[in-house]
Amino acid sequence: MLNLIIHGSTTHGWAFSELNLGEEVRACNQIAFQAWSPTGTSLAVKTLRQNQWLLARPETPLSRRPQWLTLAIGCHEVQRLQFVFAGSGFHQVFMSPIVLRRIESTTTWVHFEQRGPECFRVAMPSKNSSITVSLASFHRWRSLGSNTSMHFGSNDLGLLTMRGPAGDQSVCLAFPTVFRSARTLLPIAYVGISSFLLGSFALRGRPILSSLNKSLFAAHLFSIITTLREIAIRRRIQPERAWDIRARERPYWYISYSNSAVESEAIANADLEEVLDGFDRAWLKQGNVLEIGCGAGRLLKALAQKVGNAYGVDFSGEMVRLAQTRLRGFSNVITLKNDGSSLSMFEKEKFDFVFSFAVFQHIPTISNVEAYFREIHRVLKPMGEVKLQVDGRGDSVLWRSFKILIGNDSWSGIFLSRSELLALAKTHGFEVIRLGHRPSRRGVLGRQNLWIHMRKPSSLEQIPAREG
Ligand SMILES: C[S@@+](CC[C@H](N)C(=O)[O-])C[C@H]1O[C@@H](n2cnc3c(N)ncnc32)[C@H](O)[C@@H]1O
Repeated sequence: MLNLIIHGSTTHGWAFSELNLGEEVRACNQIAFQAWSPTGTSLAVKTLRQNQWLLARPETPLSRRPQWLTLAIGCHEVQRLQFVFAGSGFHQVFMSPIVLRRIESTTTWVHFEQRGPECFRVAMPSKNSSITVSLASFHRWRSLGSNTSMHFGSNDLGLLTMRGPAGDQSVCLAFPTVFRSARTLLPIAYVGISSFLLGSFALRGRPILSSLNKSLFAAHLFSIITTLREIAIRRRIQPERAWDIRARERPYWYISYSNSAVESEAIANADLEEVLDGFDRAWLKQGNVLEIGCGAGRLLKALAQKVGNAYGVDFSGEMVRLAQTRLRGFSNVITLKNDGSSLSMFEKEKFDFVFSFAVFQHIPTISNVEAYFREIHRVLKPMGEVKLQVDGRGDSVLWRSFKILIGNDSWSGIFLSRSELLALAKTHGFEVIRLGHRPSRRGVLGRQNLWIHMRKPSSLEQIPAREG
């Protein structure tokens, strides 16, 4: 046990604590501790090996509740450990004593796409070692008896333990038919209902299938196919990770249904027009603007010339990396990774304008949306304005029922209605300037494009909502 105990330390800016590992602790190969931060402080851990500092844990925000963090480090090679806490403004960190462990088996995380059966290779380090696979709390996965030299055991936590001879082993797993069927049936139901809705639009005189509307039809079809694919393959993956995968796979498609960075930039101006519509732009020339969910930075690039300083946050580290590459050379634009619900890296009353486009429609929980409303209110200057686009299909009984059937995930987020948005604005102390559906660029699901334009009041006086 090591004695670095930070209990409720309050720091400003960034701070670090260092530990020297003495001879007596050299047998460990893992350190474990509990850490949490009510202010969303980030923690990075560095190790000094052979006089070189290496990152053992990249800078990642700590959660609000105590969480065990384990880091694999070969203690015999490590001279010093450094804990770096970072965040803007004041932050609080709580840490339990650090436990040094000697672990004989390895724990490895294999992410399945859950189409099952899935095969992967594991490298067994030595004859008597074991490997534990976490199956996303899904302890019903079974091994397909293809590899007789491996022993598979599972426990209640959805962990599968594998033992076998040293060296590379190929392992195949599947989960029972009943779960596979559910996964197949839901997307089929989705296609069926979507086709029904499209057909009914056509019958009501909207010539969706006419040659004049081929591109509109194609856009609907693209949207349905992408949603279907996402539901089938990434439903159970954590939202942040799912977006990292999308950013690696085909970022511009998932950002704006574009096939390349250039194509996505070509439509960025039109999308930015939608964002800035009804907004006094002259005001922004010197102002600070924040985009929530900035993706690969296409809107920030279009915005850079129009504002004093532009900031973007996104919870996908991969997206932020793409944005930083794209925005290199724009000295007034900064992009940062956040934790998906807080803006704790910004001090209060920093921004004149906060906006978000094509992001809230992907957020799967209402608590997450509420957290953003709270945070936006905190970081906006009095009389600062905010424009958010959400999936407004909550206004339709048909879509709502359908949503109950397919559920929410990181691609198909929650639907909100106008009354729900008004209630959120009121609860969080905003004046609503405008609220209404807008036809979207490609005409994809007009109902989906619900905008709310709000202001943080400087007094308690309320401006009545204008719909349209
Ligand atoms: C469809 S893209 C839109 C990107 C950008 N707004 C644009 O129009 O180019 C959605 C982005 O929102 C991000 N995102 C989704 N949920 C988020 C959350 N809770 N917090 C921060 N970013 C989020 C995703 O990582 C992704 O980059």
